[in-house]
Amino acid sequence: MNIGIDKIGFAAPDFVLDLADLALARNIDPNKYKIGLLQSEMAVAPVTQDIVSLGAQAAAAILTEEDKQTIDMVIVGTESSVDQSKAAAVSIHGLLGIQPFARSIEMKEACYGATAGLSLAKSHIAQFPDSKVLVIASDIAKYGLESGGEPTQGAGAVAMLVTANPRIMVLNNDNVCQTRDIYDFWRPNYDKYPRVDGRFSTIQYTDCLTTTFDYYQKKTGQSLEDFAAMCLHIPFSKQGLKGLQAIAKNEETLNRLTERFQEAIVYNKVVGNIYTGSIFLSLLSLLENSRALEAGDQILFYSYGSGAVCEIFSGSLVEGYQKQLDQNRLESLNQRTKISMEEYEQIFFQEINLDETGTSVDLPEDPKPFALIQVDKHKRIYRK
Ligand code: COA
Repeated sequence: MNIGIDKIGFAAPDFVLDLADLALARNIDPNKYKIGLLQSEMAVAPVTQDIVSLGAQAAAAILTEEDKQTIDMVIVGTESSVDQSKAAAVSIHGLLGIQPFARSIEMKEACYGATAGLSLAKSHIAQFPDSKVLVIASDIAKYGLESGGEPTQGAGAVAMLVTANPRIMVLNNDNVCQTRDIYDFWRPNYDKYPRVDGRFSTIQYTDCLTTTFDYYQKKTGQSLEDFAAMCLHIPFSKQGLKGLQAIAKNEETLNRLTERFQEAIVYNKVVGNIYTGSIFLSLLSLLENSRALEAGDQILFYSYGSGAVCEIFSGSLVEGYQKQLDQNRLESLNQRTKISMEEYEQIFFQEINLDETGTSVDLPEDPKPFALIQVDKHKRIYRK
C-alpha cells in the first residue's frame, strides 16, 4: 500500500526581523549571517502566538470538514511545549474541531520529533488504511538576547496530512536511524532558553549524517545518484549545505543536488530555524520553488535532533503533486510586518504576566484567527 503526505501546510507569525539589522545592533559584519550562515531574515512570534496557535493555523490551511471527520490521530512534534503534561495536540484537536474519537499526542526529541511522528503516522495508516493522521511540527526557536544562537532563531509550524494513496509524496520503506547520547543542545526544565554547544552540535550534525548515510547505503543499496533532491534539517541553511557536501562524493551529483538545495532553502532563509519543522519547510520550499522536479522523482531526507537522534528516509513524488501546493507562498512571506531591533527585543521576549490567581493581565490583543487570548487560572485559552 502507498502511504505518505497527501497535503502540506505552513504558518509563520506575521512579524519578521531583517538579520542585517540584528548584525548591525550586535556589531557583527552582516555577511556573517547572509553568507556565513546563509540566512537573511527570521520570523518573530508575539507572546500570543505559540506552538498551539501556529500549529492550528498551519493545519487549518489544508484541512477540509471531511478530513476533520476522518482524522483519528493528531501528532505534534515540538521542543517548545507550552505544558509539561497536556499535549499541544489535544489543544489543536479542540481548536480545529476534529471528530472526538481520535488519539492526540506530543512527541519530543529536539528537532527530530516530527519525523518520528511521521513514521508513527505511516504505521497507523498501514494498520487502518481508511483513516488519516495529522502530523504537525510546531516550534519557536528562541536562544536568548545576544546569545551565540541569536541569528538562528525563528518560529513556525508545518502541518502534514498522512494518508493512503497520498497526492504529494509516497514515503518509502527505507528508514535508517541512529541514536547518540550526547549534550550538544538541550534545555533543562529550569531553563528558559536552551543550552547549546554550538560548534559541537554542528560537528555532530555532520558526523551523524555521514555515518548514518554509510549505513543507509549498505542497507538499501541506494546511493546519492538515485535521488533528484535532498532535504535536510536546516537549523540554518549553511549547515544543510555542509551536510550535503559531506556526503556527495561525485562532482556532477553535488552540483545537481546543490541546485535543488538552493530551491529547498528559499523559505528557510526568510523564516529561520523552526526546529522540528525545518526539514519539512525545506520540503515545501523545494516542491514550490523547483521547476526541475517531476513525478516519480525520489527525494532523500536527513532529519537530525540534538541529543541526538537522526533518521535518513526517502519519498517518491506523486503524479500531479503540484496541484496540492501554494505557488504564492513567498509573496505572502514578503508581506509580513518588518520590525525594528527594539520591537524584536520587546515582542519576541515578552513574558505573560499573571496575577495571584494565575490569570493573565495586559496580554496584548491579537486579531489572528488562532491566538492565545487569555490565561485563565493557569489555563491557556485560545480564540477558536
Ligand atoms: N563574511 C562571511 N562569512 C563569515 C563572516 C563574514 N564576515 N564572518 C564569519 N563568517 C562565516 C564563518 O567562516 C563560518 O562559516 P564556516 O562554518 O563555513 O567556516 C560562519 O560564518 C559562522 O561563523 P562562526 O564563527 O562559526 O559563528 P559562531 O561562532 O557565531 O557560531 C553557530 C555559529 C551556528 C554555531 C551558532 O549560531 C549557534 O550556536 N547556533 C545554534 C546551534 C545550531 O544551530 N546548531 C546546528 C546543529 S543542530
